[in-house]
Amino acid sequence: MNLEGKHVIVTGAGAGIGLGIAKACRNAGADVTGFDWKTEGRERLEATGARFEQVDVTDLDGFEAAIAGAHDRAGRLDGMVNNAGVTIKVPFLEITREQMETLWTVNQRSVLVGCQAAGRIMAKAGHGSIVNLSSVHARTTNPGHEGYAGTKAAIAAMTRAMAWSLGPEGVRVNSICPALTRTEIVDKAMEDPDNAARFRSWTADGEVTTVDEIGALAVFLLSDAASALNGSEVTADRGMSALLDVFDLRRN
Ligand SMILES: NC(=O)c1ccc[n+]([C@@H]2O[C@H](COP(=O)([O-])OP(=O)(O)OC[C@H]3O[C@@H](n4cnc5c(N)ncnc54)[C@H](O)[C@@H]3O)[C@@H](O)[C@H]2O)c1
Repeated sequence: MNLEGKHVIVTGAGAGIGLGIAKACRNAGADVTGFDWKTEGRERLEATGARFEQVDVTDLDGFEAAIAGAHDRAGRLDGMVNNAGVTIKVPFLEITREQMETLWTVNQRSVLVGCQAAGRIMAKAGHGSIVNLSSVHARTTNPGHEGYAGTKAAIAAMTRAMAWSLGPEGVRVNSICPALTRTEIVDKAMEDPDNAARFRSWTADGEVTTVDEIGALAVFLLSDAASALNGSEVTADRGMSALLDVFDLRRN
């Protein structure tokens, strides 16, 4: 799993899973450009050796231009990771139009545009790999996640269609579907032993996935080692969605 000589763009790279993916790609030898709308994570990202650019993926024209600019600066584009996303969990009957719009714009439209802009460049070059961050909520979900789950299912569905649109051009498109992953917020929540025990009870091995583990999966999908994978959803949930446990799912 070597990314030597490859240039990868990661969105939402200033924190959480995006930062973990950027770091893993750097460790695998890639040249990495990280986009984030906030500058808070700039130093953290640059410490990995990646380039930081302030880009809001919901500014669709600006996002598309930033992808083209990053390609021109690096002289190539081999990997695109559409990771930036937001989670909104509210009782279904209370979700507002504004919250729906936020979910669709950040989680769904930006991914479509990110794939299209990167896909055009990659198709011209005749190679590339795109990785989209979906979620375990694309398949199994719980009340209050109607909006979020819909956007994540859309990502998985778009990924399948794009695999066939771009496959003939030498470009693969896959998604990663994580369950709860140890970002800064989750780590903080796990300082409370009750939360830690609850989160650990959701997985078959009692562990909670780290951002480095998702980073390793992204590196695999971006690398030539994953040449057989196109249109796939890589479920990274430690067995959570394999379990039929209606009571727990409703409660949590
Ligand atoms: N953490 C989890 O448990 C988990 C589980 C399943 C799926 N996911 C998915 O993984 C992805 C990353 O999640 P995370 O938990 O690391 O999130 P996070 O909130 O920890 O980090 C998200 C990063 O994206 C950036 N971002 C948000 N909106 C942006 C925008 N419009 N333009 C550019 N950057 C933007 C934020 O500033 C932040 O740096 C999301 O798509 C999320 O839905 C996360």
